[in-house]
Amino acid sequence: MDQNDGFLKDIWYFAVHGREIKPGALVHKVIAGQPVLVGRTKAGDAFAIRDICPHRGVPLSAGKFVETDNQPTVQCPYHGWRFGTDGVCKHIPSLYEGQDMDPTKIAVTSYPLREQQGALWVFVPSDLRNPAQPTEEPPLMPGVGDRPARIYQKFDLTCHVDNAVIGLIDPAHGPFVHKNWFWRDESGMREKAKEFAPVKNGFVMVGHKPSANSKVYSLLGGDVKTEISFLIPGVRIEHITAGKHHVVGMTTVTPTGPEETEITQSFYSTNPVLNFLAPVFKPFMYHFLKQDADIANIMQEGLKFDPRLMLINESDIQGKWYFSMKAEWDRARAEGRPFKNPVPEKTVLRWRS
Ligand code: FES
Ligand SMILES: [Fe+2]
Repeated sequence: MDQNDGFLKDIWYFAVHGREIKPGALVHKVIAGQPVLVGRTKAGDAFAIRDICPHRGVPLSAGKFVETDNQPTVQCPYHGWRFGTDGVCKHIPSLYEGQDMDPTKIAVTSYPLREQQGALWVFVPSDLRNPAQPTEEPPLMPGVGDRPARIYQKFDLTCHVDNAVIGLIDPAHGPFVHKNWFWRDESGMREKAKEFAPVKNGFVMVGHKPSANSKVYSLLGGDVKTEISFLIPGVRIEHITAGKHHVVGMTTVTPTGPEETEITQSFYSTNPVLNFLAPVFKPFMYHFLKQDADIANIMQEGLKFDPRLMLINESDIQGKWYFSMKAEWDRARAEGRPFKNPVPEKTVLRWRS
């Protein structure tokens, strides 16, 4: 995929929850338009390499693990070339004794990978031949230590990641798309005024008491405060503190194709009661995400005709910030300087929802 795919590069993307990648697994993912093999050695180490054999293009994830000089290597199913978890070719079976060819001169891109709080993050470089290395770490969910997500739910949206992000930070669709008995509806709409501030690679809706018309929050009890942040390329973190406990909802959007986006909703909590009950909430989570997926699919019918779109004041300003952060990210890379967050120092946004 070319550079015009509209996907941010040289940045961390959420790939998958680590427990989906069992020891010995080789899993094919597409992340920001790039084919990536996410694997885990039998010893438990996760890694990510380009999922295309440089010989004839077979996805290496179709192969299997074999040992080469006591090291785990991935063997391509076509001619048996073997690649280390660092992407370097360690063995070409067709070479005869003394043949003048050094397999280790051949390599597939190795993607920096982090496994933290049970999640796997992959750093996607813009230049595969001369890949940039990360200068910062992927986001950490606040207050939950190294706990993994208690539950999570994944969905495929049929839209470009930009539209998925806009939906994620759009405060005005709730009463219409998420019309549920357990959430506010149109008749409960009221005027909101929220304060926003920039954070590293994003912005935050500064901590506030949740809207009294959100029935779900009342289940948490205690003195509840919630803070919602959004970080590029597409991570929304809702951090709720209730008494001494933390509850975090992470929603990530990862572009898998020009018109395909994987959305994952993950739920973390330090509250043992909530963790015990969490599986009960999973169907609600599914229901909520499905509503977003359904509207994305309907929207795609309109977007086929490439219409002009609008971002209005003030309910769509977060969307405007997203596009200006993206543009600044690309400019900063091109000019070889640090990202300078274009989100204004302090803004109060008003809307009805
Ligand atoms: S295509 Fe992979 S070894 Fe030939
Ligand atoms: Fe939504």
